[in-house]
Amino acid sequence: MQSIPDAILDWSKVASIHNKKLIPLTLEKHQDIFPISSQPVIKYIEQKQITHEAGCEIKDLRSWVLAQSFYHYFSELAALESRLICNANAGIVSDSYTVKFDHNFKQIASSIIIDEGYHSFCALDAVRQVEEQTGIKSVKMLKKNCAEQIFVNCRRLVEHRYWNDFTLVIASILEAILAKDLDLCLRARNKIENKNTSGYFYLLQENHFRDESRHSCFALLTLEAFWENITDEERTNLLPAIHEFVEQYSNFVSFGDAEFIKQVMAPISNDQTVIDGAIEFCQHDRKQEARQIQVSMLNMLNQTRVFC
Ligand SMILES: [Fe+2]
Ligand SMILES: [Fe+2]
Repeated sequence: MQSIPDAILDWSKVASIHNKKLIPLTLEKHQDIFPISSQPVIKYIEQKQITHEAGCEIKDLRSWVLAQSFYHYFSELAALESRLICNANAGIVSDSYTVKFDHNFKQIASSIIIDEGYHSFCALDAVRQVEEQTGIKSVKMLKKNCAEQIFVNCRRLVEHRYWNDFTLVIASILEAILAKDLDLCLRARNKIENKNTSGYFYLLQENHFRDESRHSCFALLTLEAFWENITDEERTNLLPAIHEFVEQYSNFVSFGDAEFIKQVMAPISNDQTVIDGAIEFCQHDRKQEARQIQVSMLNMLNQTRVFC
């Protein structure tokens, strides 16, 4: 694809968003750009003493896998927030749901659209800075954002006239879960295995969490108000798809991101048993965190009276 002319790039620098300060990356040689506790592939590689195949251009496996994990995490985040979350909040502002929200809801929903645009902007800037400073290029990921894919699969269970409403429900669930996920990630900062993680990663997460904890409260409030005001007929129509979403999303988290692991292991090893071993290892390692996410999804759906 053609690249953007310099004049346009310079012009874009006067956009309001550039008045906000972005976090500059300073990465020391011994530091990890992504926490080991969130990427068990490293433990697998080190325990099994896996070295890359002859002819593989990767110099340092640990840095390479962690950089790919960083790119994957922040690219997925930017895609999910700018598409699904912004879209759901735009629906509140434009009265797209069967339940109409008042002025204050609309005002907050508009502010969330700006926040999410900013988070996406920061996430993409972080990917750029890490690529520039490490010289590690991102491998092309073939799949769509997984949460979004699960959402699309489950939406098929809903009558077409309620598709918009289903977007609001799922975006609310994902907003609440994202805050929980960021919280878990920040709490894992003190684990021994994460002692070499760059402060830059945690600064990004802390900045994001500040907004997401607020979004999470708004998402729960929105979901509760929405659910209370729809008809029994609509509730009956939406419920099986919501149950299915919780099931599929929990499985996705519990099983680890197998698709990503396959893609990241492919340049390292031609041996299918090594790749399968990595997937299995990661699933086992992430079990406890996945369980915590599942429990908080169920609690949140009970709290908002969707599952009562
Ligand atoms: Fe966000
Ligand atoms: Fe958010």
